[in-house]
Amino acid sequence: MERLDKILGNMGYGSRKEIKESVRKGLVTVNGIVAKDPGMKADPEKDVIVIDGEEIVYRKYIYLLMNKPAGVVSATFDNHDTTVVDLLPFDYKSFEPFPVGRLDKDTVGLLLLTNDGELNHRLLAPKSHVDKVYYVNLENEADESDIEAFRKGLEIDGGYRCMPADLVISEDDRKEVHVTIREGKFHQVKRMFKARGNEVTFLQRVSFGPIVLDEDLDEGEIRELTDEEINMLQNL
Ligand code: URA
Repeated sequence: MERLDKILGNMGYGSRKEIKESVRKGLVTVNGIVAKDPGMKADPEKDVIVIDGEEIVYRKYIYLLMNKPAGVVSATFDNHDTTVVDLLPFDYKSFEPFPVGRLDKDTVGLLLLTNDGELNHRLLAPKSHVDKVYYVNLENEADESDIEAFRKGLEIDGGYRCMPADLVISEDDRKEVHVTIREGKFHQVKRMFKARGNEVTFLQRVSFGPIVLDEDLDEGEIRELTDEEINMLQNL
């Protein structure tokens, strides 16, 4: 059970003050009975709550896809930097979503955010091996020996041996590549190229498992995942 004003506020039906005003005007009903007190307790999953003639559609979880811009950190709070959560509109923030894994501050592209802790946990579990595809610009041209080294499993600094990864070099420009990795170590893609004597100059994640970054979603823009996409993630 939760306070009525909190339920409505979290669902984006206005500020606490506006909701109080709606209740005072008799515009809110719970199971057909006019609510008298914005602090009354209700069960958003069972009770039928109507505000201004509109029945609220309650949902507990939210699943968002952001095209992360450079310069923001993949966290919910940071003392110095803008976070990806800071970029969300209030209606989404009220669900208290957090990023599923991390992209570096200078990395752009597909980042999932949710408040579904269980899904987050499953997607990030070391043994889940979800494919992540990155578009990469390099300082130097990549060649067949890089493809082979990635395929075999590269040893990166610190002695960690990566799982086999796929490297595809663009036909037009050998400094442009796509990399598919199935794990997510800190700075992994950058460290993999460093181990090859190369350097990443631009990094963009283009997919996470079955979820693909939309070409028309500008950096900093956000959309909700479709039911189909959520199902695909749940069933991975
Ligand atoms: N690999 C990196 O080096 N950085 C990222 O942000 C993601 C993968």
